[in-house]
Amino acid sequence: MSSYINTIFNEDAVLGLARIPDGSIDLILTDPPYSLGKDYGNDSDKQAAADYLAWTERWIMAALPKLKPNGSLYIFLTWRYSPEIFVLLKQHMIMLNEIIWDRRVPSMGGSVRSFSSVHDTIGFFAKAKGHYFDLDAVRIPYDAATKKARSRAIFVGAKWLELGYNPKDLWSVSRIHKENPERADHPTQKPLEIIERMLLASCPPDGIVLDLFMGSGTTAVAAKRCGRNFVGFELNSDYCDIIQTRLASPESDRVALRNQPSEPIRAKAPKISPPVKAKRARKSLTTAAKPAAKPAAKPAAKPAAKSAAKSAAQPAALKSAGKKAKSADADTSISAKKTIKKTSRSSLAAVVSDLPLTSV
Ligand SMILES: C[S@@+](CC[C@H](N)C(=O)[O-])C[C@H]1O[C@@H](n2cnc3c(N)ncnc32)[C@H](O)[C@@H]1O
Repeated sequence: MSSYINTIFNEDAVLGLARIPDGSIDLILTDPPYSLGKDYGNDSDKQAAADYLAWTERWIMAALPKLKPNGSLYIFLTWRYSPEIFVLLKQHMIMLNEIIWDRRVPSMGGSVRSFSSVHDTIGFFAKAKGHYFDLDAVRIPYDAATKKARSRAIFVGAKWLELGYNPKDLWSVSRIHKENPERADHPTQKPLEIIERMLLASCPPDGIVLDLFMGSGTTAVAAKRCGRNFVGFELNSDYCDIIQTRLASPESDRVALRNQPSEPIRAKAPKISPPVKAKRARKSLTTAAKPAAKPAAKPAAKPAAKSAAKSAAQPAALKSAGKKAKSADADTSISAKKTIKKTSRSSLAAVVSDLPLTSV
């Protein structure tokens, strides 16, 4: 197996990408600094707007060639820079979705001169038509009452009723608050539930996911749980230690996957010819989706599919390019920043004026 697989490199992602062959990655799933002034033990989240956008363009252009022709990309952003970054990505990829992650922030305090921002904006893009996408693996099950209510003849035996519904593009999943057992010591850790949904839908079993900004390693942990391979980068050596601990803990154990049949099941809507009946069926489908609005926290345990037994969890190595103290990290990012400043402004960066940094 190639030396970069199931490895996290403690180094700058843009430099480290040279380790990965072009056309080898199934999915780029990444959560870059947002330029909101967060403290990651380095200055990576404290760039001025134009520098941040120029740097974003640099890492995106370095990362995209790594994707396979049927590969795709998810990128976590906020409303602040998603417009500019989506415009850039749309020049090179097909935009499939803007997913809104409602972090389920309780209403307390917040902004007084505007509305409090409680969501992340996630871009979902494909490299080309014919991208890999396994909807059946991420359908949300209908609850028992809804299934029971669909007892009319047209629903009997309908696969979609068993497999559940499309998760849609509004994901309401609680952020990782202090009491959450998943919680690691990282300020912007993402929930496994979200990352696993992306992986199951967009990275084939045994495929490779690339996360350029690993943080606490949620992408790597999710990949191990779901029988996918990972590769990634993280500047802060303390976070690399956290990743190593998470990957070695039972949290990373292989999970039983739902809806992973040995033969793909295609969910088919029942065929109804007279228009009046079709109208009624559509109405029923809409109503059916309502009671089951809450996404399943974890895939329900079904007898593990053949693929689960086949690909037992891969040994996860974490290679660190030398342990460095936090100050060393800061030095690295400062020198990286200097390099960025020297770089001429990109067309993207040129369209925005420098906005003040705000910590939220
Ligand atoms: C938003 S966080 C990722 C959080 C992650 N998704 C999780 O669930 O824990 C971004 C991370 O990128 C790291 N980082 C920033 N600039 C980097 C760079 N040039 N190369 C590699 N990592 C970088 C930061 O140290 C930070 O931990």
